[in-house]
Amino acid sequence: MSMLTPKEIVAELDKYIIGQNDAKRKVAIALRDRWRRQQLAEDLRDEVAPKNIIMIGPTGVGKTEIARRLSKLAEAPFIKVEASKFTEVGYVGRDCESMIRELTESAVTMVRTEMEREVQHKAEANAENRLLDILLPPQRQQTPHAWRPNDPGAGDEGQALSQQEPDAEERTREVIRKKLQSGELDDREVEVETKDSGMPSMMQVFSNSGLEEMGVNFQEMLGKLMPQRRQARRTRVSEARRLLEQEELQNLIDMEVVARRAVQRTEDTGIVFLDEIDKIAGRGGSKSGPDVSREGVQRDILPIVEGSNVTTKYGTVRTDHILFIAAGAFHMAKVSDLIPELQGRFPIRVELENLGADDFIRILREPRNSLVRQYQGMLETEGVTLEFTDDAVEAIARMCQRVNSETENIGARRLHTIMENLLEDISYEATDKAGSHVRIDGDEAERRLKGILEDQELSKYIL
Ligand SMILES: Nc1ncnc2c1ncn2[C@@H]1O[C@H](COP(=O)(O)OP(=O)(O)OP(=O)(O)O)[C@@H](O)[C@H]1O
Ligand SMILES: [Mg+2]
Repeated sequence: MSMLTPKEIVAELDKYIIGQNDAKRKVAIALRDRWRRQQLAEDLRDEVAPKNIIMIGPTGVGKTEIARRLSKLAEAPFIKVEASKFTEVGYVGRDCESMIRELTESAVTMVRTEMEREVQHKAEANAENRLLDILLPPQRQQTPHAWRPNDPGAGDEGQALSQQEPDAEERTREVIRKKLQSGELDDREVEVETKDSGMPSMMQVFSNSGLEEMGVNFQEMLGKLMPQRRQARRTRVSEARRLLEQEELQNLIDMEVVARRAVQRTEDTGIVFLDEIDKIAGRGGSKSGPDVSREGVQRDILPIVEGSNVTTKYGTVRTDHILFIAAGAFHMAKVSDLIPELQGRFPIRVELENLGADDFIRILREPRNSLVRQYQGMLETEGVTLEFTDDAVEAIARMCQRVNSETENIGARRLHTIMENLLEDISYEATDKAGSHVRIDGDEAERRLKGILEDQELSKYIL
């Protein structure tokens, strides 16, 4: 569970997202509230409902980006889904409850990874012992003269010997163990037998279809019906070690415990990010077609947000305390176009601000994954160093601002198109120019984009 304080969460988000302080604060509080609720006495804990949030803002200002970064910080089951992907129950498509199944799935992965970490050492030790058994079968003696498979007496002789000298066998085993550990034997070929994990592909097709949606673990059901097959294969020691470790891990982890903990964690700390919620806004009334079905989706989402039981293949999940963060551009629709009951379930609203030239400068420069750094990194793989002067960055930001205001405002997304056009020639020729240094200053940036910028019609299509 996240132990980060709201300020720490905002500081983390600041590394990637420029501005939008209000939104950052609100999501930070919501995230911290999950932890606070966990600290409460049980009777009070049940009373505290999560404060669901709607983030409203034009396109390309960082809504989805905030969600993506938050998911990395949350240390809680987290999924991002597009509201527009869902369909009303009874129609072809994804039903709304599947978001909770997906959330539970992410909790299972999380819990399993944690538990695997706990038993990793044990699994490694077991795998090593199994490898030793393969390299040095225990019932046979390792001394060369004692092991003659063609000699009918050889087996017995081996056994007798090893009984006589258990120490010798043990010593050899330790020698081999050392060699194994040092990686000296990694390239040696061995034959290992592992569980055949690959389901016949037909089964996989089945299990990915509708049954999954109903929360039935078809694959597991079939897996239990079918005899466990074991498969022997020849591989290198290093690969065999990996296979055996995997299998030992599986043996050491009780999937029922994983499922139980995962369900618990989903219920207590799960977060669903419902993106593009404006796409399902719209109230039916007398209108036809899509609006009616959008309203249907809203009605299906309602009980999930409000708190209901959803059947998953890991057990029933209560959604009462799952946090929902919704986001949408809401240009065409307004929040008030959502059905009132749903509006009521999202008590916190936050508007994200439009981005201007100053923000673009910072977006180009500051984030760890900024476009400037991305392009520099990409060209460096070709041996080309790319330099942007300060006035180049300013010029790009200004152009971005200008095109946004003259054509359509797509926020920071415009930076991507502008940068791509700006660097097209350099990118195309980079391979032939290894070792060169490319410097882009303000004039150069403007010169390269001039042709496109001057022609408004053209820039509408290209940038
Ligand atoms: N405030 C910001 N700080 C840094 N980068 C940003 C910011 N806003 C947007 N970006 C960049 O712009 C791109 C688009 O942003 P994002 O996906 O968050 O848009 P959005 O608000 O979800 O828009 P939409 O409503 O169209 O989904 C991202 O790749 C991100 O890098
Ligand atoms: Mg988005």
